[in-house]
Amino acid sequence: MNADGQKQALNWSELGFQYIKTEFRFRAVWHDGAWGEGELIKDEFIAIHEGAPAIHYAQQCFEGMKAQTGPDGRILLFRPDLNAERMQRTAARLLMPDVPTEMFVDAVLQTVRANASWVPPYGSGASLYIRPMLIGIGENLGLKPAQYYEYRVFVSPVGPYYKSPGLGMISLAVSEMDRAAPRGTGSYKAGANYAGGLLATKRAQELGANEALYLDSREQRFIDEAGSANIVIALKDGSLVTPKSEAILPSITRRSIMTLAEKKLGLTAVERPIELRKEIGDFAEAAACGTAAVLSPVGKIWFDGSWHEIGEGGQPGPIMQQLYDLLVGIQKGELEDNFGWLVAVD
Ligand SMILES: Cc1ncc(COP(=O)(O)O)c(C=O)c1O
Repeated sequence: MNADGQKQALNWSELGFQYIKTEFRFRAVWHDGAWGEGELIKDEFIAIHEGAPAIHYAQQCFEGMKAQTGPDGRILLFRPDLNAERMQRTAARLLMPDVPTEMFVDAVLQTVRANASWVPPYGSGASLYIRPMLIGIGENLGLKPAQYYEYRVFVSPVGPYYKSPGLGMISLAVSEMDRAAPRGTGSYKAGANYAGGLLATKRAQELGANEALYLDSREQRFIDEAGSANIVIALKDGSLVTPKSEAILPSITRRSIMTLAEKKLGLTAVERPIELRKEIGDFAEAAACGTAAVLSPVGKIWFDGSWHEIGEGGQPGPIMQQLYDLLVGIQKGELEDNFGWLVAVD
């Protein structure tokens, strides 16, 4: 809260997915094999060496997660331990030091707590986006790992990622550019994966789509993922499928949705390669899922020169509606958290 215990005077329900400066961010520096103390600071700028490997060689990675206010006023995080694990996996791949889970989560808790007045109130439809990041900051000219690293966590209140809030429909356009090589870094949350996607997103948006959809880069046959979200598909046979691929980000939202489909809706939920052109006729519903995208039903996909519609008349289908209600209900603390997924910021 503010010094006077009030929320910030923001028009919460009008927020888009843009950076809004909040008061505090967490910062810790690693050098000589150990993390320094770490502290909350006010400066949103980072002064780093001009030779820092984060800038030249993209030796950096990040995470994305959200905090929401529950009906009882508690601030809730969703499975932050999985974000910590994923950052550790990415850090190992990029020869960066580990941010231990306890340190990762504690810094997130401290940052959210310190910025409590910026956490959107219950019922506003907005949430607090949390961006933990790990960057190689030390002076370094040659291609080798940095000698200094900064772990930083900043937050920003956000509204919907796509311009179609709630369970609005989105569309995707298959990219002619690849996102990740089969044995590359696609399954890691490395910034290097995203710069190359900017042009693909632009091209997709020029076609009228919300985002690019990537097929596997070996054969351009199987669905990989969207620019910032995984894909889930309800087939006409009643099962839920999601692409199995070594090149996609292991989405925490997608893993949660697959569990909910199986355990709450009694659906068969399978991770397997999905061949777009051959199988699209069997799709009853499709959706993009992720922290930012939440669960956004996909009404149509552009490929091979035309739009291909999915499901009935551009409306969210019943499976995605139920999955959305379950996921968001748990994340907001409205439904019982049977899986132990929530962490309250006390
Ligand atoms: C490329 C990509 N795929 C998938 C996701 C979804 O992952 P998560 O559900 O863990 O947010 C993200 C991040 O939101 C992403 O950047």
